[in-house]
Amino acid sequence: MKADDSASALREEPLLDIAALRADTPGCASVIHFNNAGAGLLARPVLRTMLDHLELEANIGGYEAADARAEQVHDFYAAIAELINTGPGNIAFAGSATHAYSNALSAIDFRPGETILTTRNDFISNQIAFLSLRKRYGVEIVHAPDHPDGSGVDVAAMAALMRSRRPRLVAATHVPTSSGLVQPVAEIGRHCRELGLLYLVDACQTVGQYGMDVEEIGCDFLTATCRKFLRGPRGSGFLYVSDRALQDGYEPLFIDMHGARWIEPGTYRPADTATRFEEWEFPYATVLGSAAAVRYALRVGLFGGGALGGLSAGLLAGAIGARGALTVAAIGSAAVVIGLVVSPVSRLSRLPSAMKDEAAETATPGEPVTPTG
Ligand SMILES: Cc1ncc(COP(=O)(O)O)c(C=O)c1O
Repeated sequence: MKADDSASALREEPLLDIAALRADTPGCASVIHFNNAGAGLLARPVLRTMLDHLELEANIGGYEAADARAEQVHDFYAAIAELINTGPGNIAFAGSATHAYSNALSAIDFRPGETILTTRNDFISNQIAFLSLRKRYGVEIVHAPDHPDGSGVDVAAMAALMRSRRPRLVAATHVPTSSGLVQPVAEIGRHCRELGLLYLVDACQTVGQYGMDVEEIGCDFLTATCRKFLRGPRGSGFLYVSDRALQDGYEPLFIDMHGARWIEPGTYRPADTATRFEEWEFPYATVLGSAAAVRYALRVGLFGGGALGGLSAGLLAGAIGARGALTVAAIGSAAVVIGLVVSPVSRLSRLPSAMKDEAAETATPGEPVTPTG
């Protein structure tokens, strides 16, 4: 081992250039912002990219501006692909993680009596979507039990349910919104691949915070937002679709003239790539801003569990000093704990199984789902 590879040498070297990151983050001048799980503060290059594009649209027209920036728009797909280890053709832009998720669900021709196998720690909108599918198509929703040691879903029990129920869909959320839990999505995926089951992963709170590898996870669909730990703009997210799912012909229920070609009066052909999950109209400034955010994140190297927490603390320490940052972090953590205790999501995970579906059923539109998301 070289001398400068040692842990002590690493400690002396700042891993992140906090001053540069602060200078790149206009919001640092005015707020102390912990809500990365809601939406991270935009970096200056992201903001500039979006403003430049809006100006270009204003100056030469929206369609013309899109043509002029075609290469940068393509980079959205390349950048996300690099981030999660896939190809650009496996990525579709989405206006939100929820839209990506429901679009993926819409591709599955559920039949009455088929099963959706999921976990007890999930995003409430996903569960509402499952209930809606139950109401419309008569699917059954089965929740795999948690492991008694608190590490998340009991993968062995979930695998046993996969074998006994042969679910039409297995669905898991990698990092559920409010609890800090990290579900063993790759272990679940190994069983799905072994049994040939369709697998959907919600990685909304993961992307940008943890390194992600869709090959390792073995999922068919994965959904995420760009606005949280990637620090992209609001109204941006993406759907990953595996080659397997594309080849098996999965396509959204309401495919449009961007996702498909109308080749004869009675026939259309879906795009070969995940483009089939997109619509023709596009928020180009947002797509370009998202691409800039992903490139920025890849460049500053935020990936690895908790790295963004470190960055937040660093940004904060730069503003108010290390001791002050620690005090604020402690108060912030306490607020998060209080938020968790009162959040509908944690209440959901404490309910006995029979009541959980009922709780999700009675969740009213507009009820806060999470203190952060
Ligand atoms: C785990 C998880 N999934 C999905 C979503 C929904 O994301 P969006 O608001 O982009 O639809 C959130 C939002 O916070 C989330 O935390």
